[in-house]
Amino acid sequence: MDINYIGHSTFELVDGDARVLVDPFLKPNNPAALVTAEDVNPTHILVTHAHVDHLADAAAVAKRTGAHCLSLVETIGWLGEQGVENVSDPNLGGTVEFDWGWVKLVQAFHSSTTPDGTVTYASGLVINIGGKTIYHLGDTCLFGDLRLIAERTPVDVALIPIGGHYTMDRHDAVVAAELIRAGTVIPCHYNTFPPIETDADAFKADVEAKTSSKVVVLAPGATHST
Ligand code: NI
Ligand code: MN
Repeated sequence: MDINYIGHSTFELVDGDARVLVDPFLKPNNPAALVTAEDVNPTHILVTHAHVDHLADAAAVAKRTGAHCLSLVETIGWLGEQGVENVSDPNLGGTVEFDWGWVKLVQAFHSSTTPDGTVTYASGLVINIGGKTIYHLGDTCLFGDLRLIAERTPVDVALIPIGGHYTMDRHDAVVAAELIRAGTVIPCHYNTFPPIETDADAFKADVEAKTSSKVVVLAPGATHST
């Protein structure tokens, strides 16, 4: 299974014919991304929450490709209003099965407002694909039940925000990594904009000093294979 880092919180998980795009925020909306909404061809799109830096390109890509979209019910409602038809609309705690695996919506402490002003909830995503469990934390702050979520489904790869300001910072993210105990940690949601600039190499050194997790720092456009 390949984990392609597109930049910011945007990842593409590829296993066989399944191409799962998480939080589509693409060039030129995303200053970190090297690819545009025309360059990606996902089979599925997953959205952690409705902020524009996670959702901006979801409707355009879904309508062009027919990709199946999954997000929390109110966020899917907004995507439906944009003309996206092929959807799953769970709420927190819900699991949706696909032919390549499954996706569970889990708690994240963060706000979420759709572009038309509807206030909804943010989520994290526990994704089972290619026999691996990937935990995309979304934009959460640090909270103790990260441990509980990881106990329910042991995590192979955790995608953890480290940029601070809008999410946990790299110091809280070290504690998150201690709670989750993933085999591999990939940092995200940093250096895209000035308020979230941080030192990913320092995060890697701190996590690897305090946990048995391996930290893989990916540049936008890079891939980690598991
Ligand atoms: Ni957000
Ligand atoms: Mn964000």
